[in-house]
Amino acid sequence: MLILTRKDIDQFYTMEDCIESVMEAFALSSSKKVKAPVRTKLTVEHVQGNALFMPGLVEEKGYLGAKIVSVFPQNSSKGKPVVNATIVMLDVETGEVKALIDGTYVTKMRTGAATGASIKLLARENVKIGVLFGTGGQSEKQLEAMIATRHFEEIRVVGRNFEKTLDFCEKMSLLIPEMKVKEDHKNVEITAYKDGNDAVAEADIIVLATTSTKGLFDGNLLKNGVHISGVGSYTKEMCEMDKTTVLTADKVYIDDRDSMLEEAGEFTQLIDQGIISEDFYTGEIGDLILGKVPGRENEDEITIFKSVGISAQDLVSAENIYRKAIELGIGQVIDFD
Ligand SMILES: NC(=O)c1ccc[n+]([C@@H]2O[C@H](COP(=O)([O-])OP(=O)(O)OC[C@H]3O[C@@H](n4cnc5c(N)ncnc54)[C@H](O)[C@@H]3O)[C@@H](O)[C@H]2O)c1
Repeated sequence: MLILTRKDIDQFYTMEDCIESVMEAFALSSSKKVKAPVRTKLTVEHVQGNALFMPGLVEEKGYLGAKIVSVFPQNSSKGKPVVNATIVMLDVETGEVKALIDGTYVTKMRTGAATGASIKLLARENVKIGVLFGTGGQSEKQLEAMIATRHFEEIRVVGRNFEKTLDFCEKMSLLIPEMKVKEDHKNVEITAYKDGNDAVAEADIIVLATTSTKGLFDGNLLKNGVHISGVGSYTKEMCEMDKTTVLTADKVYIDDRDSMLEEAGEFTQLIDQGIISEDFYTGEIGDLILGKVPGRENEDEITIFKSVGISAQDLVSAENIYRKAIELGIGQVIDFD
């Protein structure tokens, strides 16, 4: 069994690689080739913690595994991370466990890569201003995905706490030179903004990675041709885009229809109010990759991609990481015998 830590993965698996994995995952998911039963949730009452077990199989590709994620809110008072994840990969021929992978890191990578894939597929080529909402656990990889896929002059960051936003911008400015992205893309200014509306007015690409329960900006301010990637909301109560943004968009893509109808608050709230139908969207992003639905058709269209996250992203990314690690001889091998 191979154990792969964040440091191991970082040696060889780039955001560009992960975008490829995630595009494969979206296509497999929309082709209905992924067996992924509803996740099992166990609640540990005395600490109000939840442990989630998420298995997946793509038999024809030999992908078999599961992600275990725990969300234990009391951990923050103990100085420990609230969310912890591990991915277990199995050999599809023998059922033996073949790898144990840092799932917290893979989650950040593949969630960033979902945004990256949507930018690659849907955003205009020539962009100047990007905006990132959120400075939490996911935000670093969201920003890396933006820089990996387009050359921005400026990326504006908006958080709830301005001091934290300034710290995040400073940290990212120091990290960018080390990122494995195109050299000329590294020439980007990262600036902190207090007001989301000020930030989005000239934006070409907007990325949302927050826990917000209401729209983060006024949709009336959106410029023609903007692309929005929303990854934050995952319940009916959560929402990162206001009604105007959803209704103004020319094309809307989602990761998975059933999950969207359960978890994407910005859409389900409008569906429940009868403002949009369940079929309001253009297509799943996997169907766009498969050429079954159209993508951006001109420079003026406003496009949205909403991700709630699907297990195929973890499964395909983890398998590709495992295969490359074996090829390169990276990681620690453990034998149960
Ligand atoms: N789509 C996916 O596949 C996927 C994967 C992992 C996490 N997520 C979700 O993404 C969200 C962000 O994850 P995280 O780990 O970074 O969370 P986090 O708790 O570490 O950070 C949340 C961030 O949201 C910001 N925020 C909240 N309300 C805001 C507002 N009104 N304006 C500006 N910023 C605001 C906070 O300041 C903070 O920076 C969570 O809801 C998480 O569940 C989605």
